[in-house]
Amino acid sequence: MKKDLFAEKVEKAIFNWYYGGEEAEAEPVFNEIALGLQNGMQVIVPVEKQNEFSTDDKKADRETNPVCINTDEIQADSYIQTLKEAEGYYIPVFTSENEFSRGKFSFSAEKALKNVLTETKSQETCLGVIINTYGKRLVLLEEMIELALNYKAESHLSIIRGSVVDMHVGAIVNAANKTLLGGGGVDGAIHRAAGIGLLNECRKLNGCKTGEAKITGAYNLKNADFIIHTVGPVYHGTESDAELLTDCYRNSLDIALRNDCTSIAFPCISTGVYGYPIREAAAISAKTVLSWMNIHSDKVMNVYFCCFKNSEYDAYMEILKQS
Ligand code: AR6
Repeated sequence: MKKDLFAEKVEKAIFNWYYGGEEAEAEPVFNEIALGLQNGMQVIVPVEKQNEFSTDDKKADRETNPVCINTDEIQADSYIQTLKEAEGYYIPVFTSENEFSRGKFSFSAEKALKNVLTETKSQETCLGVIINTYGKRLVLLEEMIELALNYKAESHLSIIRGSVVDMHVGAIVNAANKTLLGGGGVDGAIHRAAGIGLLNECRKLNGCKTGEAKITGAYNLKNADFIIHTVGPVYHGTESDAELLTDCYRNSLDIALRNDCTSIAFPCISTGVYGYPIREAAAISAKTVLSWMNIHSDKVMNVYFCCFKNSEYDAYMEILKQS
């Protein structure tokens, strides 16, 4: 399958959903699926060729199990392989070759996810669709399929316990310093993960002013397409701190949108080495992101606030409870 950007985004959103643990919300996944469905997203389905049914056993098997979901998209002599259960069967689909190759299936074909989901409705013994059966799987039962087909994608804010470096997103935001040449904290972690290629690109950027943001490739950090470097204010307790921190979030979101990202992961900018009190910073970032989403209500952005420390997570939970 040629790389399907929408399928890749669904795969990333599913990863983040697992990474977020029990508290993670499913909206980002449904957002990416909805965008994929609107844009003809293709998935890989396992197929078997008719001549593989040459033994009597297999012929009988096919006759008693309606596993043949044959459409124009798939060659006339091929059938989708399903996962059989006592009560019926699931249709497995995959978002990438990598996910497909984890399993036992040998032949594959491409099919529009929308068609797979729609066709399940006419298959009485179909229990649902499983995305990426052998990895981080997403099981879509009948009612979830209905939800996915009618889902209205809109921007969503998630609070995640964990490191921004681990997130599978369009853009990871780096809390950098004005040189953009690396440092401690999350900046150091991002540069270590991305490697020398990132440092070389950063050298050409001539630094970055406080509150502004610049974008680079992600190099060895394969779970993101881009890194957005922003420089938070060193906390002094003045009004301009809040303005500059607001700028960091707004400018990062603007750059992500300009680069067609539908997901972005932020660390708690300025709250480490730069000393911004987490409660104040959390209130500013949440307000800024929610207001950006309001202004760009025709766009879809899955925003993840990544809380490396429990105190950061608790601060966000408190802020969002109040709003
Ligand atoms: N992995 C993931 N997140 C981390 C890590 C890590 N290893 N370390 C800290 N965080 P900070 P700042 C989270 O201090 O306050 C650098 O030296 C942390 O919990 O990295 O904006 C730069 O070069 C918090 O959520 O950044 C600058 O000189 C967030 O990252 C300066 O620090 C930001 O904490 C920037 O200071």
